[in-house]
Amino acid sequence: MTEPAAPAAELVVVANRLPVDRVVDAVEGPGWRRSPGGLVTALEPVMRRADGAWVGWPGQPDIEVEPFEFEGTHLVPVALSAEEVELYYEGMSNDTFWPLYHDVIAAPRYRRLWWDAYVKVNRRFADAAAGVAAEGGTVWVQDYQLQLVPQMLREARPDLTIGYFHHIPFPAYGLYSQLPWRRQVLEGLLGADVIGFQRVADAGNFARAVRRQLRYQTKATGITVPEPDGSTRNALARAFPISIDTGSYIELAARADIRARAAEIRESLGNPKKILLGVDRLDYTKGIRHRLKAFGELLEDGRIDVEDVTLVQVASPSRERVEAYMQLRDEIELTVGRINGDHDTMGHTAIRYLHQAYPREEMVALFLAADVMLVTALRDGMNLVAKEYVASRTDNRGVLVLSEFAGAADELPSAIRINPHDIHGMKEAIMRAIEMPAAEQGRRMRALRKKVIENDVATWSRSFLDALEVARTAKRAKQAG
Ligand code: G6P
Repeated sequence: MTEPAAPAAELVVVANRLPVDRVVDAVEGPGWRRSPGGLVTALEPVMRRADGAWVGWPGQPDIEVEPFEFEGTHLVPVALSAEEVELYYEGMSNDTFWPLYHDVIAAPRYRRLWWDAYVKVNRRFADAAAGVAAEGGTVWVQDYQLQLVPQMLREARPDLTIGYFHHIPFPAYGLYSQLPWRRQVLEGLLGADVIGFQRVADAGNFARAVRRQLRYQTKATGITVPEPDGSTRNALARAFPISIDTGSYIELAARADIRARAAEIRESLGNPKKILLGVDRLDYTKGIRHRLKAFGELLEDGRIDVEDVTLVQVASPSRERVEAYMQLRDEIELTVGRINGDHDTMGHTAIRYLHQAYPREEMVALFLAADVMLVTALRDGMNLVAKEYVASRTDNRGVLVLSEFAGAADELPSAIRINPHDIHGMKEAIMRAIEMPAAEQGRRMRALRKKVIENDVATWSRSFLDALEVARTAKRAKQAG
C-alpha cells in the first residue's frame, strides 16, 4: 500500500480565519478572494519560500472544503458547525476572552459550555496543523481564539518549533484572575517557544500571571518552563509591536484617482473647513461613544460650528450576533441621530455615519480628506488605523489624536495623546488638533511617519520569525548535547 504524500510545510500559520474570503460569482460560481489585512500580505513571500501552509476557518458555518492551493500557499480549512461558531467564536472568544482582555469594558461571561467548545475546536486546529507541518518545521499560531493550540501541538509534535502571537491586550493579573480556566490558558500559551505581545506591558502582565498562577520563574523576557521529564526549557515572552504594509499605503496615497476621490469626498460634505474622521470596527473597545460625546459637546458649547466642522464616522459591522455589539450599535445610532437632529442644517451634517466596510482605496481617500484622525480606544492591542492614517499622509499634513490606551501610543509619541475617559481633556485635544498650524502638523507628522516607515509589517514578521529561528537552533543544540 502506498502512503499518501507526506505533509511537508516548513512553516504553518494557524489562525481563526483563513487569509481568503469566500465569494460567489454569478457566472463562475463560488471562489476565493484574498482578504485585505496586513498579516496576509506580510507573510505571503515567506509562505511561498517555505512551502507554507495556513490553517484556518473559512468564515462561514458548516462548509466543508478540502485543502487547496491559493497564491503560493497551501490552505487547510477547519470546518466549524453553526453551534461551534456560537459557542467557540461568538461565546468563548468574543463574549469571554475579548471583554476580559480589554479590561472588562463590557462584562465577560463565563460559561462552561463555551469553554468545552473552545477546547474541542482548539484541538481541531492543533490536529490540522500537526497533520500538515514538516518534521522539525515551524508553526506560528495567531491570537486569542487559539490559546490552547501551542500546548496541544507540542504534545502531539515535540519536533516542532512553536510561536504564538497575541494581537490583543493581555490584562493585569487582577482582572485575568477572574478567568475560571486561568491555569489552562497559561499552560496552553506556554506550549510555545516564543510568545509575542503588542506592548511591553502586555508581556509583563503575562509573566506576572505565570508567576502568580503557576509559580514558574521569570527573568526579563525568559520564562523557565518545567518539562515532563523533570528538565526545564526556556520560553521567550516579549513585545513585537505589529504594523502595516506601509509601502502599499504610500503608493495608494500617490495615485491621482485616489487624490481626486479625496477632493470629491470633501466636496460632497459641503467643503467644511475641517473634517474629523473616526474609522473603527463597531466595537465597544474603540471608545466611539466617548468620541461622540466630546464632539457633541463642542457643538453644544458653540466652540465649533456644523457649517465648518464635520465628523465622518466609519463603523464597520462586526460580530453582529453578540449581544454587547447589538446594544452598542443601538446606542451609537441613537446618539448620532440626536446630535445630527440638534445641529444639522440643510447643507451640512454634524456626523456622517457609515455602518459599512470599504476597500483600501476608499479608506486612503478618506485619510487624505481628513484633517484630524480620532483614535479614542478605551483599550486596543495596537490600532492599525492610526498607522494607516500616518502612512497615507505623504503630504505631512493632518493631525493624529491618539488614545494612551491603544498599543500604538507606545510607538507614536508625536501624536496628540488623550485619555478617552477624560471628556474635558478630549475636547481640548480636538480643539488643539483643529487649530494646529501647518508647521506643527508637519513636524509631528514627519516624526510619526518615520516610525511607521521604519517598522512595517514585514519587519515585524521577520523579527518574530528570527526569534523562532533562534529558539529552533537552541532546541537542536539541546537535543544534540
Ligand atoms: C481583532 C482580532 C483579530 C480578529 C479581528 C476581526 O483585530 O485581534 O483576531 O480577526 O479583530 O474580528 P473577527 O471576529 O471578525 O475575526
